[in-house]
Amino acid sequence: MRACVGQQAVGGAVVVVVVMGGLWWATSQPTAPPECRASLASLRDTLVRAIREEAQRKDTTHLHLPTIYVITPTYARPEQIPELTRLGQTLMGVPRVHWVVAEDAHATNMRVVTYLKHTALPHTYLLTPMPEEYRNQTMQPKGVANRNGGLAWVRAQATEGVVFFADDDNAYDLRLFEEMRYTSRVSMWPVGLISGSGVSSPVLRNGRLVGWYDAWIGGRTFPVDMAGFAVSVEFLLQRPDATMPFKPGHEEDGFLKSLGTKPSDIEFKAAECTQIYVWHTQTRKNRPYSRQILSPKFDGTNLRVLQKDIMLQPG
Ligand code: UGA
Ligand code: MN
Repeated sequence: MRACVGQQAVGGAVVVVVVMGGLWWATSQPTAPPECRASLASLRDTLVRAIREEAQRKDTTHLHLPTIYVITPTYARPEQIPELTRLGQTLMGVPRVHWVVAEDAHATNMRVVTYLKHTALPHTYLLTPMPEEYRNQTMQPKGVANRNGGLAWVRAQATEGVVFFADDDNAYDLRLFEEMRYTSRVSMWPVGLISGSGVSSPVLRNGRLVGWYDAWIGGRTFPVDMAGFAVSVEFLLQRPDATMPFKPGHEEDGFLKSLGTKPSDIEFKAAECTQIYVWHTQTRKNRPYSRQILSPKFDGTNLRVLQKDIMLQPG
């Protein structure tokens, strides 16, 4: 019986190798029309994903770990897919993770949905538009509707684990996720590249909290960055009314206060806040692109396929 199963596996692997080889060959044929090559490449990606998902399904080694629910606010712009690519590939290195991607939009963004599928990460895509009343404000509560939508999903679906708000544009060291995984109530750590101060961190002396370091304290009880803390699912579920306020600059503090967080609830991670495992990177916004790509001289070329992926401004 075991020999038979083994033979089947070998047979299956041979079929996959032959099909993949055929697809690689077909997508590299210079005579094939660009649209046809794009479709074949997409078919090949689907196969790769199916193989990766199957391998993950069979892998039970991490089932005992607490789940990390990563809530990521995002919104459509040319930099969106590059940002999500960096974060998605970071999360591929994190076992037992569920990525809740909440988009500030009224309609499904297929670019994001397709990218998420491609990662083969356990994920959920939510539509969480910013309420119109905040849209015209000079200081907007960015990502708040998204994070509250993500929290509602976690409340409805999760029973254990930890919640972390990961903006789509930061840079995350894999070690950060293992620091936060076992969080009893609330955990905190430093965040680097904070403009004005270089770092945002709880200040500890002999392991005890004695203050906060941040570019702007602003009368906040918890002057921390969004990427500087995580909350256990159990702690969150015990506080059903906790919510993030639509108050620019006070989102983190407001949320932690709405959870009724006490200093004694906080665990200080990253070797007692001596290591930086997350950076508040910011991507330069690109100016609108030229529309040369639409010129008829490029008809019938690969540029007709590529133009769909660069978010050309309507002109
Ligand atoms: C800083 C903080 O680090 C954020 O945690 C905080 O949400 C934000 O300020 C704020 O203004 O409240 P910053 O780099 O200035 O972050 O903000 P962005 O990275 O532009 O936006 C934060 C998140 O919200 C991102 O994940 C972004 O994709 C999302 N966002 C931004 C939206 O969903 N909609 C928007 O219109 C803008
Ligand atoms: Mn940012």
